[in-house]
Amino acid sequence: MYTVSIIGTGYVADFYMRSLQTFSDIKVLKAYDINPERLKVFCDYWQVTPASSLAEVLGQESAEKPSLVLNLTNPHAHYEVSKACLEAGLHVYSEKPLSIRMDHAFELHALAKEKNLILSSAPCSYLSEVAQTIWLALRNQMIGQPLLVYAELDDDYVTQAPYQKWMSESGAPWPYEDEFKVGCTLEHAGYYLSWLMMMFGSVEKVVAASAELIKNKIPGVSKTAPDYSTATLFFKSGIVARITCGIVAPHNHGLRIIGDDGVIEVNESWNNAATVKVRKRFVLRRRLVNSPFAKKVKLKGPTHPMAPRKGATAMNFALGPYEILQSIKDGRSSRSTADFSLHLNEVTLAIQNAMDNTGVQIMKTECPELLPMPWAGALK
Ligand SMILES: NC(=O)c1ccc[n+]([C@@H]2O[C@H](COP(=O)([O-])OP(=O)(O)OC[C@H]3O[C@@H](n4cnc5c(N)ncnc54)[C@H](O)[C@@H]3O)[C@@H](O)[C@H]2O)c1
Repeated sequence: MYTVSIIGTGYVADFYMRSLQTFSDIKVLKAYDINPERLKVFCDYWQVTPASSLAEVLGQESAEKPSLVLNLTNPHAHYEVSKACLEAGLHVYSEKPLSIRMDHAFELHALAKEKNLILSSAPCSYLSEVAQTIWLALRNQMIGQPLLVYAELDDDYVTQAPYQKWMSESGAPWPYEDEFKVGCTLEHAGYYLSWLMMMFGSVEKVVAASAELIKNKIPGVSKTAPDYSTATLFFKSGIVARITCGIVAPHNHGLRIIGDDGVIEVNESWNNAATVKVRKRFVLRRRLVNSPFAKKVKLKGPTHPMAPRKGATAMNFALGPYEILQSIKDGRSSRSTADFSLHLNEVTLAIQNAMDNTGVQIMKTECPELLPMPWAGALK
């Protein structure tokens, strides 16, 4: 049995609990939150043992330590909590971003390396069926040589949505103040950026712009994070990608990878089982036609457990933690590494902080090469 402990029992922690339950060999040892009322509601609901201190959840006062700690706190607390876990000698999987400050991300990366511990961050949907299907379709040359990517993460005009009514399963409110202060780019760019890094490797240059379009989102708070960003990413491999994040334009989570022999399309990044389509182009008399008949691409055989959740967020949040736990057991390197998370963090911060005058940003970090998931070797 694998054991994990959870720090931060707010809105997203419920998604994790449902996802962890899809793996019968993971046990949640303990949970901790600086908000004791929230901790109690969470632990009562999920029948998890509450810890009364950080030291207790890290197992510093007992013989039983978790194999992995899930840091599900708010982004501003990620650095200090992950640092405490690493200092206690524990592997960490942090919610995104690894850190809101790049110097802190570098420090965590160095600490994990020094202590020979795994440090990784969300999102983990690059390990999911949909992302692995796209990657295999690319490797199988279904669209020839890929050249260009358009990735959209627009979430509609969120400030006009009834977000005060959004509740997690055990009753945690959607933390809108934190979400608007952290910003949609830090929250969401990783959902496609991680897929693109897995498929195309390191981003060399970022040319980005970001802006805060909706003013006074939170009464009394004059400045929140950019609510719109767009970036052109120049990968070392030669691929160019345009990625857009926003909470102003209507919902669009489309991804199109354009190759010299066709296009791969998917219309949702938050659904692990989203349909992957390949559309070929051809010449019909004097016209260039993108086929109206797209071919659905599917992997052969079973993949991974799906989260028992339909709707906007049909993702299994435990795919990353499970990959790490299995890698520890098997004594192999994990596909979720500190190098990967550090590069993801650097590119994401470069986009978020670009505003209107940053110009070209050269990335200092690199993306390691990843192996496909073992079940992603053949298409139907
Ligand atoms: N809200 C979403 O829809 C969503 C979806 C995916 C990922 N995430 C990510 O999940 C993380 C948490 O977001 P959330 O929506 O659950 O926020 P939240 O505010 O609902 O929950 C965070 C919890 O962490 C606790 N906390 C903060 N600092 C702490 C510390 N130092 N020690 C212990 N507990 C601490 C808070 O008291 C709170 O209960 C963020 O990184 C966010 O980016 C959120």
